[in-house]
Amino acid sequence: MGKTLKIGIIGSGGIARAHVSAYRKLSFVEIVAVADVIPGKAAQFVEAEQLVGAAAYDGHEKLLAQELDGVSICTPNVSHHVTTVDALRAGKQVLLEKPMSVTFQEALEMTQTARETGNMLTLGFQPRYDPNMKLLQDIVQSGRLGKVYYAETGGGRRRGMPGGTFISKKLAGAGAMADIGCYSLDMALNAMGYPRPITVSAFTSNHFGRNPLYHREADKFEVEDFGSAMVRFENDLVLQFKISWAMHMDTLGATMFLGTDAGLKVTPAGSGPWSGVWDGAVGSMTLFHDEYGGHTQTAIPLVEHKLNLFDEKVRDFAEAVRDGRPAPIPGEQILIQQAIIDGVLRSAEARREVSIELP
Ligand SMILES: NC(=O)c1ccc[n+]([C@@H]2O[C@H](COP(=O)([O-])OP(=O)(O)OC[C@H]3O[C@@H](n4cnc5c(N)ncnc54)[C@H](O)[C@@H]3O)[C@@H](O)[C@H]2O)c1
Repeated sequence: MGKTLKIGIIGSGGIARAHVSAYRKLSFVEIVAVADVIPGKAAQFVEAEQLVGAAAYDGHEKLLAQELDGVSICTPNVSHHVTTVDALRAGKQVLLEKPMSVTFQEALEMTQTARETGNMLTLGFQPRYDPNMKLLQDIVQSGRLGKVYYAETGGGRRRGMPGGTFISKKLAGAGAMADIGCYSLDMALNAMGYPRPITVSAFTSNHFGRNPLYHREADKFEVEDFGSAMVRFENDLVLQFKISWAMHMDTLGATMFLGTDAGLKVTPAGSGPWSGVWDGAVGSMTLFHDEYGGHTQTAIPLVEHKLNLFDEKVRDFAEAVRDGRPAPIPGEQILIQQAIIDGVLRSAEARREVSIELP
């Protein structure tokens, strides 16, 4: 019988409940502490979730003083940096909710702290746990497509703009690009082995968010509800990345990888007005190729599964902590997409192409 992992939860809002539900399914994990900045909220959470024996703290610092093997950070984006850096410095392994940070500089400090302390910083991108994501990566990296020279990713909700902290520049950093764009960026970049970006040219807008006809907090809406960017990578590769929280269109198209020998089209799963955006599982994959001089296409049979992807990400983190494995989705990798989002915002503001500097 192995050791029981002691886990703490920082931020006791909506997504924290999904973390608790996932940890509960793991016999080797015990949730021993919960913290929130709002006085009394963590205690209410402990009671509502029936976390018998768990300590409740007002503020993350007191939780971090407790002996813990790992923490789930479930605070709004603006607090990701301080809670992650403090947790790593306190010797805890960290599972951090997406997106990584508000600014690129924060993401840089977070990965540096993970490196300096030797503690794990892993990011909670649950779509990675769809087995078809692995299949997609295997196809792109197998050489079947030849040299991949162009990719497109993103997608759009016809109408699906959040409010509150998500629309504040100071608290969220970016809008749709970070909130839902982080998933499609991760899918495409992960499939291509996280190539290094060098420049980006981008356009962003917020015609819907700023319009009281479409958003009840229009006067507070500071971020982008739409964005389109062309990202250039080392090795003659270009990615067109587009995302929307709101638009007069059903979809911004599929994710695609164009190679010299074949092309691969990937659509997201789901149906309805939110189905055009990548924030869940793979819906279909089609390979476009020539055979015996003619154009043909092959539907890739998808891996059928009944996995709860959210549970899988939490399980993988807990098992990595237990087994001393490296971060399943390391901060260093996601730093690259934070650099791209940072470049998108800078380019959109400057109305020209900008360079992306990575350490
Ligand atoms: N992976 C997913 O599918 C998914 C889904 C939804 C949200 N999220 C992410 O999860 C995070 C939280 O989202 P949410 O919807 O649960 O938000 P929420 O507002 O419901 O909950 C966040 C909680 O954190 C608390 N908090 C703020 N600063 C804190 C600090 N320094 N220390 C302790 N507690 C603090 C708040 O008081 C609040 O109770 C966001 O980054 C969001 O992007 C991920």
